[in-house]
Amino acid sequence: MTNAVLAANIRISAEFSKRDAQAGCPFFRCPPYRILYAPSSLSMTFLDQIEPLKQSALVELSAALDLASLEQARVNYLGSNGKFTGLMKQLGALSKEEKPAAGKAINIAKVELEKALAERRTVLELKASLPKDPTDFTLPGRRRPLGKLHPLTQVTEDIVRSFRKIGFVVADGPEVEDEYHCFDALNTPADHPARDTQDTFYLQNPQANAQPSMLLRTHTSSVQIRVMKKQQPPVRIIVPGRVYRRDNADATHNPTFHQVEGLYVDRNVTVGDLKGTVQFVFEDLMGSGTRIRFRPHYFSYTEPSFEIDFSSTLTRKMGKEWLEIAGCGMVHPQVFENVGYDPEIWTGWAFGFGIERIAMIRYGINDIRLFYENDVRFLRQF
Ligand code: DAH
Repeated sequence: MTNAVLAANIRISAEFSKRDAQAGCPFFRCPPYRILYAPSSLSMTFLDQIEPLKQSALVELSAALDLASLEQARVNYLGSNGKFTGLMKQLGALSKEEKPAAGKAINIAKVELEKALAERRTVLELKASLPKDPTDFTLPGRRRPLGKLHPLTQVTEDIVRSFRKIGFVVADGPEVEDEYHCFDALNTPADHPARDTQDTFYLQNPQANAQPSMLLRTHTSSVQIRVMKKQQPPVRIIVPGRVYRRDNADATHNPTFHQVEGLYVDRNVTVGDLKGTVQFVFEDLMGSGTRIRFRPHYFSYTEPSFEIDFSSTLTRKMGKEWLEIAGCGMVHPQVFENVGYDPEIWTGWAFGFGIERIAMIRYGINDIRLFYENDVRFLRQF
């Protein structure tokens, strides 16, 4: 087609578009812009290729029954060697005048294809996510196995429950403790072996010899100090919690274990109150018929101090009449001075015992390490 014909076409087109703007052109049976944008035989070919190619792409996209065949259809048309991409590459060969219209048309078609691809992908992705087999609603429900509390947690809760019955409340303190609360305030002298780095886990301080030295608490007794420093008597607390010692693990030792501390401070508190309380709690925990006895002992924060043994059907099962179970005593006057209580007015007792030991006796467990291995065959038994 020559430039003259092209010019004539444009003129015709302009006239028709004026006259038949709404109705379209009856003579050419197409809207006038088709003529306007069809200036040469090459571009006729190019433009004419778009629609059929688009149509066959649309057919193939909508015929894809799964994501893999959809991807194949995409590669066939829109991949770097795809048919549609191939057509787009031909744009470069068109003349300067032809390019804008051809580019516009092919871009419109490309947008349409990409939209159809995305829509089909959404549908197929949903289909892929649905279960393949139909649900059988008549099947019996799946049972979820119930979890259980760890035996140490169960024992701790029982101990707390017993003490709550006689008016004790639970107190708490930090596991990373300073030497003052763990030892000094408890009247434990600097040369006491419990303060030795061989016995205790000290934390490294970036500044050498910085005060106070921090350590993992070796007992829950440190919480006595924290509570008494915060409140005036009467005090009636128990403190279940984790403690640390530099022990090698064996059947009866572990570097981490648990204790319960007890503290009772009021006017006229006596060893008789201590004995009565311990008797009540151990009977509650270990069954009626449980007996206790006190043996003289030494702790730096109590005076007098005792060790508590108990006897029950459980100890007899383990081949022993008496088993040592706790340490206790009357709070040392120096400890009261350290927290600002007047030892002339207040008296009190304290005790501490290991939770693992109680659990081992109660359930007949012969190795403390079983508590920490989290073997469900062990845990299921409680
Ligand atoms: N703190 C001691 C320990 O870890 C146990 C203990 C003994 C606690 C006597 C007390 C006490 O409160 O009075 O072995």
